[in-house]
Amino acid sequence: MHRAFAHVIGSRAQRGPATLLDVGCGEGAFVRHVSSVPGLEPHGVDISAPSIELAAKASPEVLFVVANADRFLPYADQAFDFVTSIDSRVNAGEFQRVLSQRGLILVAVPGPDDLIELRERVQGGKAEKPRGQRVVEELGRSLKLAERTTVRDSRIFEPPVLRDLLTVTYRGFRHSERAAVESLAAMDVTLSHEVLAFEHR
Ligand SMILES: C[S@@+](CC[C@H](N)C(=O)[O-])C[C@H]1O[C@@H](n2cnc3c(N)ncnc32)[C@H](O)[C@@H]1O
Repeated sequence: MHRAFAHVIGSRAQRGPATLLDVGCGEGAFVRHVSSVPGLEPHGVDISAPSIELAAKASPEVLFVVANADRFLPYADQAFDFVTSIDSRVNAGEFQRVLSQRGLILVAVPGPDDLIELRERVQGGKAEKPRGQRVVEELGRSLKLAERTTVRDSRIFEPPVLRDLLTVTYRGFRHSERAAVESLAAMDVTLSHEVLAFEHR
């Protein structure tokens, strides 16, 4: 997914110097990934101070800010040519405000079949809310949906990674599911994300 995002950003950034804000950047993995795009100045914002500390240590040349993106983004109007949100927050009003006139917003949310095998094993295949549609409704009110696509892969993961996946995707697991989590063996898991691109109307 990082590669897919970087490809879109790289081809657009060829038009000249460009700025990017990664919202909910965590420990900065995506910012590091796009740092190599020529002419691109990446920034990152996250509510977690420990995550921002890690990001800043790994990329000392990048400006990272601790802020609650649900409230406001501490940047000037139209400051960014790209606003990205990967498995993170979406604030329609603020994304629109900080986006330059010809800018692009890229949002990735887990697809309905993301980690489906793992969820079936642990939670009995509980249905997921269609998150992509929620983003389309939220951002689509004031912005134009330019593209909607799905990025899918599958990998074999060992039990410690499977447990991490359940935790970091906020799906967690209830007490009643603990036995299933503890007896997990290595398994093939689908990784799926919906990628949505928006621009000004
Ligand atoms: C699932 S992680 C994704 C991190 C990163 N984008 C990635 O793909 O690895 C979600 C991130 O959103 C951040 N976050 C959650 N609520 C936030 C908020 N209100 N404002 C800014 N960041 C927030 C969390 O601290 C976390 O780093």
